[in-house]
Amino acid sequence: MTNDPLLSPFQLRHLTLKNRIFLSAHEPAYAEDGLPKDRYRAYHVERARAGVALTMTAGSASVSRDSPPAFNNILAWKDEVVGWMKRLTDDCHAHGTAVMIQLTHLGRRTRWDRGDWLPVVSAGPAREVAHRAFPKTAEDWDIARIVADYADAAERMQAAGLDGIELEAYGHLLDQFWSPLTNALEPPWGGDLDDRMRLSMEVLRAIRDRVGPDFIVGIRHVADEALPGGIGAAEGLEIARRLKASGLVDFLNVIRGHIDTDAGLTDVIPVQGMKSAPHLDFAGGIRAATGLPTLHAARIPDLATARHAIAEGKLDMVGMTRAHLADPHLIAKLVAGAEDRIRPCVGANYCLDRIYQGGSAYCLHNPATGRELTMPHLVPKAAAPLKVVVVGAGPGGLEAARVAAERGHEVVLHEAANDPGGQVRLLARHPRRAEMMAVIDWRMAECTRLGVSFRFNSWAEPETVQAEAPDVAIVATGGLPPEPGLAEGDGLAVSAWDILSGAVRPGTNVLLWDDAGDHAGLQTAETLAASGARVEIVCRDRGLVPEVMAMSLTPAIRALQRADVVWTPTWRLDAIRRTGNALTARLGSDYGPETRERQVDQVVVNTGTHPLDDLYFGLRPGASNLGEVDYPALIEGRPQALNRNPEGRYRLFRIGDAVAARNVHAAIYDALRLVKDL
Ligand SMILES: Cc1cc2nc3c(=O)[nH]c(=O)nc-3n(C[C@H](O)[C@H](O)[C@H](O)COP(=O)(O)O)c2cc1C
Ligand code: SF4
Repeated sequence: MTNDPLLSPFQLRHLTLKNRIFLSAHEPAYAEDGLPKDRYRAYHVERARAGVALTMTAGSASVSRDSPPAFNNILAWKDEVVGWMKRLTDDCHAHGTAVMIQLTHLGRRTRWDRGDWLPVVSAGPAREVAHRAFPKTAEDWDIARIVADYADAAERMQAAGLDGIELEAYGHLLDQFWSPLTNALEPPWGGDLDDRMRLSMEVLRAIRDRVGPDFIVGIRHVADEALPGGIGAAEGLEIARRLKASGLVDFLNVIRGHIDTDAGLTDVIPVQGMKSAPHLDFAGGIRAATGLPTLHAARIPDLATARHAIAEGKLDMVGMTRAHLADPHLIAKLVAGAEDRIRPCVGANYCLDRIYQGGSAYCLHNPATGRELTMPHLVPKAAAPLKVVVVGAGPGGLEAARVAAERGHEVVLHEAANDPGGQVRLLARHPRRAEMMAVIDWRMAECTRLGVSFRFNSWAEPETVQAEAPDVAIVATGGLPPEPGLAEGDGLAVSAWDILSGAVRPGTNVLLWDDAGDHAGLQTAETLAASGARVEIVCRDRGLVPEVMAMSLTPAIRALQRADVVWTPTWRLDAIRRTGNALTARLGSDYGPETRERQVDQVVVNTGTHPLDDLYFGLRPGASNLGEVDYPALIEGRPQALNRNPEGRYRLFRIGDAVAARNVHAAIYDALRLVKDL
């Protein structure tokens, strides 16, 4: 599209941004020793190469030692950061992408038991629920030191050749001073808005004094905390006006909401099943009222919404951050007229949820993201074509077929069901998770484009596969729920899958034994509750649904709380007996000899899946590698060359839940890292 508003340049003072799409600050937790080394740089350069106009690196790069890394943040207080940021910046500049960094002092949004074990500091003693630290209230010497730290960090970034910086002022120290909910200080640092903004203004002045007028300085700030007693929309607008009037700020990046709880954070950064672009009009209102260049990101996952945001003058630059985690080549595809080939972000939030669990950001269905040094986003052609037979059209099987076809191999895919999707299709029946089908649909479209031959309704036996005379057979048959393995009454339980698929009607008084702690259990509870059933979830874990992480849990917990679903952690289902028309469920505990009983009319069990592996074991004797995987070769990115059976006519591999129950990412990663070297 030649007149696409998304592809028009934007002039930010002296800086020309080549289009309207930027990566908003997001800490993927790839830093090593707090520094953006090769992995970090490769991640940004991949997106720069494909055309993003501006990358706001880091996310919450820490300016002070008492702002310890909550999620492996870049440590902007280290002098060594300059060299690493310079390499990253130079490499992105080579592709015409502007580079900035988000700087912050996290205030109470971190923990004291990280980094140097210094006390966490804020404008008052109120605890942040998400990170649990009770902060010390800042003293004058804290404030002076922190102001100087901001200026030092800004100077480092200027020395590294960045185009500018953005200060983080939502949920962090600067706006902890703004908000009446967190600022308990007396004037001159607390009290009226002038005093509450004094720290920010001093920080901005100190930065400007240090970097001069030509370095871009922006602020990502909350303009409505959406919390009783907090900064409301009127005060938020006043803050934006004062920032503009100061003449110290070149752009605003608008946030609505609060991030001190998982639920609040989820409303700021919505996940799948939630509304798209919920704060876009609000951000547009700030732009209209201030006239400052305005940036914004919050679940604008598709180009049509992004285009609307620019065309309607709501924003100057639109953030498409998770969209770029899912597909780094989004803009290249837009420019090439291949918008329909973009790998869609499905809002699963695996990326963001992981960093709060101490992991690094991986995209649920793009395993090359964050692994740019080892996994290709564009799969190269193989030296010689092979015949590859894949069995199973779940996410792992479809990825194997897609990557094999990209390699130039001839690919045949057998699937026992009428439709592709496997477990994803089952879980996507729930409206809250319907977007998950895009994981399947995108792969089906790519496989179709690449000429994969599909055989649906084909229950593959070993002979079926062998009749195709493959060079490589890949078993991706997934798993099935096992028997619950109770001391008594296995036959009286129904499985979570029975409820999810609609095969069994929900009872009215239901005990759900969730031993897997995953999406299937959670969605089963929601399905049961939505039918009007009284539901108690019993699990052996000490926390809720351990396999579903914080933000992804939010919409489900809201639904379960509305329905008064009861949660009973630390108990185990031991037995079920029929008592007249009712069932008696006996609970035991890993903690001691206590037992309890529940009278219900239905017991549902979610015990994960066991591999569906008959086909694999049937194919093993005829395989040259006898199914063995050379793990060092797999990890180091070398071809699989084991030969354990001279009579073998094909190489055999199994992937995903057909090996062991894991998740969608694991299945797709299994496929990519195996097949990219076939
Ligand atoms: C892995 C990850 C880390 C993030 N870290 C930060 C951060 O440190 N600072 C920040 O302002 N926003 C952070 N964000 C939020 C993003 O900037 C953005 O607001 C959010 O992802 C919504 O935009 P999107 O729907 O285009 O992804 C992070 C997002 C992700 C996915
Ligand atoms: S993990 Fe989910 S939310 Fe994150 S980028 Fe991938 S698809 Fe999008």
